Amino acid sequence: MKLVQTIKELQSELDALRSEGKTIGLVPTMGALHAGHASLVKRAVAENDVVVVSDFVNPTQFNDKNDLAKYPRTLDADCELLEKVGATFVFAPSVEEIYPEPDTRQFSYAPLDTVMEGRFRPGHFNGVCQIVSKLFMIVNPTRAYFGEKDFQQLAIIREMVKQIGFNGLEIVGCPIVREEDGLALSSRNARLSAVEREHALNISQTLFKSCTFAKSHPVAETQKFVEDAIAVAPGLRLEYFEIVDGTTLQKIADWEDTDYAIGCITVFCGEVRLIDNIKYKG
Ligand code: PAF
Repeated sequence: MKLVQTIKELQSELDALRSEGKTIGLVPTMGALHAGHASLVKRAVAENDVVVVSDFVNPTQFNDKNDLAKYPRTLDADCELLEKVGATFVFAPSVEEIYPEPDTRQFSYAPLDTVMEGRFRPGHFNGVCQIVSKLFMIVNPTRAYFGEKDFQQLAIIREMVKQIGFNGLEIVGCPIVREEDGLALSSRNARLSAVEREHALNISQTLFKSCTFAKSHPVAETQKFVEDAIAVAPGLRLEYFEIVDGTTLQKIADWEDTDYAIGCITVFCGEVRLIDNIKYKG
């Protein structure tokens, strides 16, 4: 595995491999890698000849400067993990390498990017599209891999690729990886104290219970079931919970409104903002 820090070096390596007919898988990350990222990389390794993992904390997608400052940075440990799971290149550029001048491009995929995270984190998805489109242009991958934990992000990236094309790039969505007790893996979990970690468990537990509840109750009652459970759970503050159509991300009023229903949740556990989701239908 090779650590590469400049676009020029990465492209010259990839051009040579592409001319030999090799397929290229890209796994975009912001580092602080865990078993969830490892599962994306393993899948990319199984499906491509060459795998590039980008490790870059993208400043343009943080609407909260404090969140950006506190984001964990663990490049050495990331490289160790990536070596083990068989990545070919780790691309860890500087901010200046990616943004030699401010990126003024505007991406708008309304209504996909105006609901849920889009409502609470203005500019976040614009920043995600800026970095992800740059990575697609730099790497020119055959396939790119994203986790379903960031469900809305995945839907927006699929839409961006549908509209822009990126040389027939295929987007591969991969299932959420959870701890044995159900907590969805996230780089942000590293910021939870032991007590907060206990509190955070109520998020996934509530979602799992709501799945059983939803089988015999309407959408509005399922919505309330989750809201009430989080309201009484210690140490948690609900930002939003929405039951949406998994393709349009618009709220549904009735289970019959869609064949694909997802519940998306964002909760503050102390200062740490955690997201998760659950499939009710589809
Ligand atoms: O999901 C993430 O970690 C980031 O949003 C991504 C896709 C790597 C872009 O910075």
